[in-house]
Amino acid sequence: MHIEFHDMSENKVNDEDEVICMCSGTTRAKVRLLFEQGLDAEAISRRTGALSGCGGCEWEIADMLKALTAEKAGH
Ligand code: FES
Repeated sequence: MHIEFHDMSENKVNDEDEVICMCSGTTRAKVRLLFEQGLDAEAISRRTGALSGCGGCEWEIADMLKALTAEKAGH
């Protein structure tokens, strides 16, 4: 029997349907949308419930916002 393991830690910025916060079911697409509306991490947290559960998504959301900020700056 052959079992294939997929590396879930692979950082695919374009994988917009990926749930970034398991607790609230918030997707990357949602984070991007709210970011584009000018919301910061705190406001996104209030809006989606992200970061308000286990907190395990904290670095990932921070990382994504950093990437989006760089993108916006014409990176
Ligand atoms: S995964 Fe986001 S708060 Fe738990």
